Amino acid sequence: MYTVPKLVDYSPATLDAAAKDLIAACEAESAAVKSDSDYKSFRDHWMARKNGILTQINDGWLKAAPKDAKRDVGARVNEIKNAVEQTVAGAEQRLAESAAKSSMTSGRVDVTLPGIRRPLGAEHPVIRTMNAMVAVFKAMGYSVGDGPEIETDYYNFESLNFPPNHPARDTQDTIFLVGQEQKPQRDRLLLRTHTSPVQIRTMEKQKPPVRIVIPGKVHRNDAADATHSPVFHQIEGLCVDTHITFCDLKGTLDHAMKSFFGSSTRTRFQPSFFPFTEPSAEMALTCFKCGGSGKLGASESCRLCKSTGWIELLGCGMVDPNVYGFVGYDPAKVSGFAFGMGVERLAMALYDIDDIQLFYHGDVRFLEQFA
Ligand code: DAH
Repeated sequence: MYTVPKLVDYSPATLDAAAKDLIAACEAESAAVKSDSDYKSFRDHWMARKNGILTQINDGWLKAAPKDAKRDVGARVNEIKNAVEQTVAGAEQRLAESAAKSSMTSGRVDVTLPGIRRPLGAEHPVIRTMNAMVAVFKAMGYSVGDGPEIETDYYNFESLNFPPNHPARDTQDTIFLVGQEQKPQRDRLLLRTHTSPVQIRTMEKQKPPVRIVIPGKVHRNDAADATHSPVFHQIEGLCVDTHITFCDLKGTLDHAMKSFFGSSTRTRFQPSFFPFTEPSAEMALTCFKCGGSGKLGASESCRLCKSTGWIELLGCGMVDPNVYGFVGYDPAKVSGFAFGMGVERLAMALYDIDDIQLFYHGDVRFLEQFA
C-alpha cells in the first residue's frame, strides 16, 4: 500500500517524480479492486477526509511547502487530486458495469434451447358442430343472425302464436326473471327457451326475402341428466319469400343434411305440431352410423339410432300465417319455412357421445379429443 513520502525538496523534478509515483500507485490499487468492500477501502485509503492520501499530501506537501514554492506545489496537488478522484470514480464505474454484465450473463437466453410452446386451445365440440352446420347454410346464401338470451314473453311466445295460457307453453319449462309480476304479461322477461324469437326480431327489422340462420344459447327449467341440460344450443332457420313451398323446405333440409352428414343420407318428414308453423313436421335422417339399416355388421344392433335406422333431428314447418300478422308481412304475398335443431343432439350423434353433461364439465381429457 502506498504511503506518502516526505519531499526532499520542492524542485519541479522532485514534484514530478513524486506525483508520478503517487498516481501510478493509485492506478495499481484501483486495478486490484474486485468487490464493493475492496472499493470502499480503496476509496477511503485515498480520499478519506481524515488521513486519506489526499489529506496527507495537502498537509505534508502543500502546507509544509515554503512560501515561494506554494503556488507551484498547490497546482501540482490539485492535479493529483483530480487524477485520484478520477481513478476512484473509474473503479466504482468498472465495478457497477461488471455487476450488470454478470447479471445479464446469468439470465442469458440460450437460443439453441427448444422454445416454450403455449398449448393451443381448440374449438369446443358444440361450437364446432354449430359452426359447421351454420357453414352449410351460409353456402346456400343464408345470412347469420343473433338475438338476446333474455327475452320478453311477447317474443318468446306470443308473437310465435303461443297465446297466453295456451298449453303449448307448458312444453317449454320456462325460467322467468324475478320481480316481473307488475308488468303486463307480454313484457315480462324470461330466459329464451328457443331461438325462434329471433325469427320475429329478424322479420321486424327486414322486409322479405329473408334467409337466415340463428345459432344461440337457450334455457329451460330442465334438471340436468344424460340427455338434458338447463342451458343448451339451437340453430334456428328461417326462409321467407314469394312462392316458398313445403318442397323448398324439404329440398333445403335434405341438401343441408347430405352436405353435413354425407351424400348417402336420406331424410324423412313426419307430421308434428308447433304453434308457429302450419303444417309442422319432425325431420329425421337415416342413421349415419348404420346407414339406416339399424344394424352394425351382420348381427350387432346400432346403438346410435336404437336399431330404428333413423335419427330425429329437428322441428320444422311452413311459417304460420298468424306469425306474419305480428311482423307486418302480408301472408297473401309471402310464404316461408322455418326449422330449429338442437346443437348438442347433433354433436352427440356426430361424435357418438352418450352423456350431454360431458360438454359442460370442461374436462380436458374429454375436450382434447376434439383438438
Ligand atoms: N323452437 C322449437 C323448439 O325449441 C324448434 C322449432 C320447431 C323451430 C319448428 C322452428 C320450427 O323454427 O319451425 O322446440
